[in-house]
Amino acid sequence: MTRKTIRLTLCAFASALMVFPSAAQSKKEKFIDAQFKIAEQHLTNQTDNYPEAIPSRYPRTTKNGKIVATNLRDWTEGFFPGCLWYIYEANKEQKWEELALKWTLPMEKLQYLKSHHDIGFLMYCSYGNAYRLTKNEAYKDILVQSAKSLCTRFSETTGCIKSWNYRESWDKKHKWFYPVIIDNMMNLELLYFASEVTGDPTYADIATKHADTTMKNQFRDDYSNYHVVNYVPETGEVEHRGTCQGYADNSAWSRGQAWAIYGYTMVYRMTKDEKYLDFAMKLADYWLEHDNLPKDMVPYWDFNAGQPGYTAAEWINGRTLDAVIPRDASAAAVTCSALFELATFKGGKKYYKPAVKTLKSLASDAYTAPLNTNCNFILKHSVGTIPHNNEIDVPLVYADYYYLEALHRYEASLKK
Ligand code: GLY
Repeated sequence: MTRKTIRLTLCAFASALMVFPSAAQSKKEKFIDAQFKIAEQHLTNQTDNYPEAIPSRYPRTTKNGKIVATNLRDWTEGFFPGCLWYIYEANKEQKWEELALKWTLPMEKLQYLKSHHDIGFLMYCSYGNAYRLTKNEAYKDILVQSAKSLCTRFSETTGCIKSWNYRESWDKKHKWFYPVIIDNMMNLELLYFASEVTGDPTYADIATKHADTTMKNQFRDDYSNYHVVNYVPETGEVEHRGTCQGYADNSAWSRGQAWAIYGYTMVYRMTKDEKYLDFAMKLADYWLEHDNLPKDMVPYWDFNAGQPGYTAAEWINGRTLDAVIPRDASAAAVTCSALFELATFKGGKKYYKPAVKTLKSLASDAYTAPLNTNCNFILKHSVGTIPHNNEIDVPLVYADYYYLEALHRYEASLKK
C-alpha cells in the first residue's frame, strides 16, 4: 500500500466515523418526530370531539369503547391540556398553543382547591406547562396560589401533606383520618416551583419535609412502598400501612413505585441533596432488577399480584383475580420519563438504556394505538384500579402525558 492510499483509507475511515454517529442520531430524531406526529394526529381527532368553546369535560379514559371525560372535580383534568402543551412544544404551531390554552384556562378556579392533594397534578401539568412555554406572569400567580392551597393540607405534627380526606381501609378495620398516598410525591413539584419564583422558602420546606417523612414511613427494606400510610393527626404516629389500588397491603403496586421513582428524582433536581438521588436510584433499581418485570419493560399492574406471600386485600371479597394480570402502560410511561431524568444526574448513566427501551416499547404497535382507534388516546393497556373494578386494560390520559414528556426528554438527551 502506498503512503497516499494509506492516507486516503485513513481519511475515509475518519469521515465514516463522523458520518455514522450522525446517521444514528438522525434515526433517533426521525423516531421521535414520527411518534410526535402520531400523537398529534390522535390529539387532533380527540379535540375534534369537543366542539364547545369552553371545555367542561376532560378526556380521561374509555369504557366499553366510549370516551370517559371528567368535570373539574377529579384529579386528572390537567393531563389533557398538558398533552396539548407537549405537542405545541414539539411543533411550535400557534394552533396548538391556542388549543392548549383553550383547555388550560377553564381550570383557573382550581387554584383554590383544598379538598385533596392532587392540585399539583391538576395545575402543574396544565398551568405549569403554560407558564414554562409562554412565560405569561398571570399563570405564575395562579400556580403560586395553587401551591398556597396545597400547603393548607400540611401538618407540622405529621410532617406531611394529607392526600385524601377521611376514608376507610378495604377491610374496614382502619379509619384513615390522615391518609398519605405515595402519589403525593408528584404534587411537590408545584411547591418547589412556588419557592423558586417567589423566593419564599416555605413551600419548598414543606415539600422537603413531606419527602423526608414519606421516605421514613412509606418504604420497605427492599425499596418498594406502601400505597397508603395513615397517620394519627394528633400525634403524627403511623396508624396503618396498606393499599388502596394495589393487590395487597404488602405488595408493590407498580404505579405507586413509578410515582416514587419520579418523585424522588424530581426532589433531587429541586434540592440537589444527594440523599434523594441515591434513594431515587434504589427505587429505580427495584423496578429494573425485579424478576417480574416483563422483557418489554411494561410492568404488570402490581409486581406481586397473585404471588405466594401476598394476600389480596379485602377488596377481592368474592371476586377472583383474572388469570391474566394486566400490564400498566401508565406506570411504564411515568417510570420511563423519570429514568430519562435520572440518567442526566451523576452516576445515572445506567438508567439511559432502560429508559430508551421502555420508550421504544411504548411506541411499538403493542402499546401505541393505530389512528382512529382507542378513542384517540395514544397508548393502550393501562390500569386505573383493579380493586375498584375500574379502568382495567384501558387507555389513560396520564399514560399519554408522561409518554409525551418522555419523548421530549429523549429528544433533549440527543442534544447534549
Ligand atoms: N393518583 C391516582 C393514581 O395513580 O391512580
